[in-house]
Amino acid sequence: MAVKINTKYLSDFASDDEIGSIMPEVIAADRTLRDGTGKGADFRGWLALPDNYDREEYSRIKAAAEKIKKNCDVFVVIGIGGSYLGARAAIEFVKSPLYNNLKKDTPDIYFAGNGINSAYLNELISICEGRDVCINVISKSGKTTEPAIAFRIFREMLEKKYGEEGARDRIFITTDRKKGKLKELADEKGYETFVVPDDIGGRYSVLTAVGLLPIAVAGIDTDAMMNGAKKAMDYFATVSPEANDAFIYAACRNILYRKGKKTEIMVSYDPALAMMNEWWKQLYGESEGKDGKGLFPASVIFSTDLHSLGQYIQQGERTMFETVINILGDESPFVIPDDPNNIDEMNFISGKTLHFVNRNAFLATVISHSDGNVPNLILDLDGRSAEDFGYLVYFFELACAVSGYTLGVNPFDQPGVEGYKNNMYALLGKPGEEHEKRRSELKNRIY
Ligand code: PA5
Repeated sequence: MAVKINTKYLSDFASDDEIGSIMPEVIAADRTLRDGTGKGADFRGWLALPDNYDREEYSRIKAAAEKIKKNCDVFVVIGIGGSYLGARAAIEFVKSPLYNNLKKDTPDIYFAGNGINSAYLNELISICEGRDVCINVISKSGKTTEPAIAFRIFREMLEKKYGEEGARDRIFITTDRKKGKLKELADEKGYETFVVPDDIGGRYSVLTAVGLLPIAVAGIDTDAMMNGAKKAMDYFATVSPEANDAFIYAACRNILYRKGKKTEIMVSYDPALAMMNEWWKQLYGESEGKDGKGLFPASVIFSTDLHSLGQYIQQGERTMFETVINILGDESPFVIPDDPNNIDEMNFISGKTLHFVNRNAFLATVISHSDGNVPNLILDLDGRSAEDFGYLVYFFELACAVSGYTLGVNPFDQPGVEGYKNNMYALLGKPGEEHEKRRSELKNRIY
């Protein structure tokens, strides 16, 4: 098993008895999920996805990835929220946060359309100058402002450089099967398209074409990734509830939340997990943060952030708990050199590996934060392989849905995201009765 939960440092805050007491609610939440009797049941396509995906499309994705690897130096992935975080998380997790700077036979990969900053776009355009470029535009709705703007800019760039015909070969679209402006444009222009399934929301979509194409372009073994997810799917569907790590995680989160621990901090000691943390924050924040409820998902990378946020976590408001991803397989042989003069007085760690020091930083911190009344939950993770990534994704998705139903919310909608999108359409002058009405309502509230 790639992920194993450890509650050793939790017993003072959520005892085994308490976990046992809430377990019937968690089991009922899992049944609601699997029976499709809960809110948002139309969005459970991710649950059987590792087994039940479109093989024909999967082969096309692999073929497109090979073509992209051959034809371009820079691959720009345009999307926001669930339409980019998973792919970025996978690339940093399995490869490296320094992926673009590594020696490799795959293209550099940049992300655009995940904000509205002109300096960033300008810099990215200059990075593309003199290099061959392909793009993948990802938007389920096909109408989100940020990626739409970036797509306009990169389409213009590609058409200028390669002509309309040449650009067609370099533009790949991932969107709804049938509807939306992006789908219409893709059909009109003849771009190769991939599908965001109807029954899978953005934040649960990393194992669909949304994540698969960029992940495959990065040279990651997508077969192994899907296999990891399938192992998790099979395991969590059959293991007993008391041994089900996803159930225990959902149970602990809800127990701690009910005790006033309103913030969950995802902790890792490896910077390769920084984007995984961002993906996790969207998954849990959008799934649970509604109806005036929900844990606030935060994240840190230690030991870096021990020198910035460590003070707050140790002694600030006691309203948080930590979930620590402890990577077991990180045993790189990087050894600390000896200094004959011992100027920094650090010779007591000469000859030790960085892994050894990092592990002791982890143990020291878990113990001191527990002493400071911050509950710590450990997720032992085998390593950072593609298979581990697939397994971890499925674990988090399942635990999130079960936890959300235990909390009493619909873990599959995101009405709050629409609020901002609609106000922005109104302020930007989008035509249409609904936008005009909103525009006049907002008139007196403009700063
Ligand atoms: O999870 C979600 O649904 C959102 O974060 C979306 O992924 C995000 O808003 C992007 O939407 P779209 O893919 O429709 O452009």
